[in-house]
Amino acid sequence: MLMKNRSLVSINDYSRIEIQQILDLAEEFEKDPNQPLLRQYVIASLFFEPSTRTRLSFETAINRLGGRVVGFSESGSTSVSKGETLKDTILMVSNYSDLIVMRHPLEGSAQYASEVSSVPIVNAGDGAHQHPTQTLLDLYSIRKTQGKLEGLNICIVGDLKYGRTVHSLLIAMSHFKPVFHFIAPEELKIPKEYKIFLDQKGIEYHEHRELAPNIRNADIVYMTRVQRERFSDPLEYEKVKNVYILRNQMLENTKDNMRILHPLPRVNEIHQDVDSNPKAYYFTQALNGVYTRMAILVKILGIK
Ligand code: CP
Repeated sequence: MLMKNRSLVSINDYSRIEIQQILDLAEEFEKDPNQPLLRQYVIASLFFEPSTRTRLSFETAINRLGGRVVGFSESGSTSVSKGETLKDTILMVSNYSDLIVMRHPLEGSAQYASEVSSVPIVNAGDGAHQHPTQTLLDLYSIRKTQGKLEGLNICIVGDLKYGRTVHSLLIAMSHFKPVFHFIAPEELKIPKEYKIFLDQKGIEYHEHRELAPNIRNADIVYMTRVQRERFSDPLEYEKVKNVYILRNQMLENTKDNMRILHPLPRVNEIHQDVDSNPKAYYFTQALNGVYTRMAILVKILGIK
């Protein structure tokens, strides 16, 4: 099926070849980021949950492509606060725009929106479920720093239970035969359904508790924030919030070309003394989101 006019709800929607096509196009946009390909298009940006990078990098991508943006960053200022349903909101906005980028706290909301919308939906994060555009920029960053996606040793650290970027990342990377090392406290271990998925795909993975000794052979260390907003009991969050803090001294015996990624925002999980280490890549990773999201929009609108 063509990518054109297809919603991007889950990273499972894209094949290995489609992922590579997006990354190739993102590379073109990085070389030449001002191309007025969306001059005729209005894109809706609906953020029912807070965001800095995803919303602003999408909006930067749209602006760089010469398109126009409508939308909101806070649903309290919309008729949702009067009781309007998600269905009615999407029906309205799909009449006004050519594509909808949506972040929503409910898992499955992007799928539901795609079923009622007359224009493609791009999932910018639905609860603890998935964040597929983050994953595409993560893969772009991994390929750019490692020169390949195949056969890498990837450590994923922190909140593997609620972290939607983790869930999307491991599905996408499973096309490329990685070895995963999951480093998480007992309470935030990778959910069983993802382990079943990896077993079925024949992907090697290991689970660890300690951080420093388990990153020595890593090509990528993917740090994540403990997702405070997904905890029903604040005391449970307090127990695990600072379990892992990556510090500069821990990087001494790691591979020269290892790179540290983080979808951001960070809280305490990467000490600021890491920021000036050449292995810290997270701020450039966020910049790569602009090029990757330009490629996603253009592909879905069928322009390139
Ligand atoms: N990575 C990410 O989704 O960041 P924001 O929540 O700031 O959009």
